[in-house]
Amino acid sequence: TLPIRIAPSILASDFSRLGQEVRDVVEAGADWVHLDVMDGHFVPNISFGPDVIKSLRKYTTAFFDCHLMIAPADPYLEAFAKAGCDGITVHVEAGAHLHRSLQTIRSLGKKVGVTLNPATPISTLENVLDDIDLILVMSVNPGFGGQKFIPAMDDKIRAVKALIGNRPIEIEVDGGITAETIGAAAAAGANVFVAGSAVFKGDGLDAYRSNVSALRQAAEA
Ligand code: DX5
Ligand code: ZN
Repeated sequence: TLPIRIAPSILASDFSRLGQEVRDVVEAGADWVHLDVMDGHFVPNISFGPDVIKSLRKYTTAFFDCHLMIAPADPYLEAFAKAGCDGITVHVEAGAHLHRSLQTIRSLGKKVGVTLNPATPISTLENVLDDIDLILVMSVNPGFGGQKFIPAMDDKIRAVKALIGNRPIEIEVDGGITAETIGAAAAAGANVFVAGSAVFKGDGLDAYRSNVSALRQAAEA
């Protein structure tokens, strides 16, 4: 079984000092760094792009888990790969040809991820299961941090877990993850937990350290 990974979303960090925030959150025990890229078109918010990620790359060697909330995604995949992303995740709805997008990410040598919005059926993945390393289950509607976890997504995680069978595919859950919601998502079968506000609340390294360990403990319980 795959390890539990805590993946803080820097969307909730202080953008004026991103490098230090990334360094601190990894020092605090984060396994992955989750990078939420938003285009103001696929989702109703704008965040940052490949140049910011490239600048962050020199602050840590931790896995850069890039969540692309952009459409179309294909024209930008190479730029995100070159910027230093280790995994690139696209939404099912981000283009007309999901299989091609996944093959492109694979050909760039990156871990291949696909994201389901809360209303996206898991059947959209049936024919790409052998082309992916990670399935990201959105537990809020994408666009903003600080929203409430949609409880029906625990059953969806269970269904995804059943769908993948014994393939070594990571199941990631994103949105509204706190020490209160993480346990049920872990029990349902998720192993990667994105958390923005629950990690970056409080001030700096000591707060981040206790926030990350509270999440990890609740996930392992
Ligand atoms: C939402 C993003 C999430 C979000 C998580 O569009 O994909 O990664 O920042 O933030 P919290 O943990 O605050 O819900
Ligand atoms: Zn995300």
